[in-house]
Amino acid sequence: MITRQLGQTAIMVSALGLGTWAMGGTWWGGTDEAEAVAGIQRALDEGVTLIDTAPAYGFGLAEELVGQAIRGRERSTLVIATKVGLVWHTEEGHHHAHVDGRHIMRNLRPLMIRHEIEQSLRRLGTDYIDLYQTHWQDPTTPIAETMGELLRLRDEGKIRAIGVSNASVAQMQEYLAVGRLDACQPKYNMLDRDIENDILPFCRAQQIAVLSYSSLGMGLLSGSMSPDRQFPEGDVRRGNPRFSPESIRRVNAMLARFAPIRDRYRLDQAQLSIAWTISRPGVTCALVGVRNAQQAAAIAPGGRVMLNEDTLAEMDRIMAASS
Ligand SMILES: NC(=O)c1ccc[n+]([C@@H]2O[C@H](COP(=O)([O-])OP(=O)(O)OC[C@H]3O[C@@H](n4cnc5c(N)ncnc54)[C@H](OP(=O)(O)O)[C@@H]3O)[C@@H](O)[C@H]2O)c1
Repeated sequence: MITRQLGQTAIMVSALGLGTWAMGGTWWGGTDEAEAVAGIQRALDEGVTLIDTAPAYGFGLAEELVGQAIRGRERSTLVIATKVGLVWHTEEGHHHAHVDGRHIMRNLRPLMIRHEIEQSLRRLGTDYIDLYQTHWQDPTTPIAETMGELLRLRDEGKIRAIGVSNASVAQMQEYLAVGRLDACQPKYNMLDRDIENDILPFCRAQQIAVLSYSSLGMGLLSGSMSPDRQFPEGDVRRGNPRFSPESIRRVNAMLARFAPIRDRYRLDQAQLSIAWTISRPGVTCALVGVRNAQQAAAIAPGGRVMLNEDTLAEMDRIMAASS
């Protein structure tokens, strides 16, 4: 597994990180808990060291499953990344979403962060978090106050590194005005490349690690999604035009043109999509979600390969011709 430095910290992470959003079940039409735990353990056995989770994934469930999966493993070999700022027990803050009968609020106030970290530590069964990330930015709390609290947590040893997710360059600049920011987690994959214009160059210049999310386009870039795929009630992909039969067919047609590249590197399409992501300049780590051990084993080889510049250019030409 390729490993990389997390920003300017002393933390090394696998270039393929395990995502646990779907394992929480919320937004993904449910989960199988035993299969999820087996999936996390399989990913670790394959050499993945970074696990990304969040309280909001299954209202605490995903963090608990990570806690179960890592029990008995040497803690210092793991990089546990979780998030803060989406809460469902208060009406204070900024409305984020209404899911499974609960109001989710964005709230990054210092007192809330204090409360939330203790909940996450308990669910994860650990006494420190390697990377603590603000999940969605909260317009009702000044960033300086949020960052001040995160820095205090770092000084106390409860967290080792500070990250942001779904943040603009201007927001990252506000964090940086208060202290060192170690990581940023934006959406990035072959179909969502906007961050190449601003966030990626900014993070490279500032030595901020970039952890891409939805690296497989929520499964669409695996190449194995059938145009007839039916998404269950509660799956965020249901009714989303990107997952319509025509759209899946169009993406699959583009992916089919990568066949010679897949053959050259001996990768399947999901693995090639991951290798593409971690080969892009400025990307530290590709986060990929799985539901079970089979998917965890299937994606692992994608974290062991770097594509050369000629291949990246060849893929860019195919993408441009397919858009
Ligand atoms: N910070 C944020 O706001 C944010 C937002 C989104 C995600 N994330 C993080 O990033 C992680 C990754 O993103 P993501 O989970 O949204 O999407 P993703 O990694 O692009 O796609 C994950 C989905 O792809 C399918 N899949 C996985 N391996 C496969 C394989 N080998 N072959 C075929 N299909 C496969 C599975 O869904 P099916 O089996 O159902 O098809 C899986 O749930 C998340 O888990 C989470 O940790 C963060």
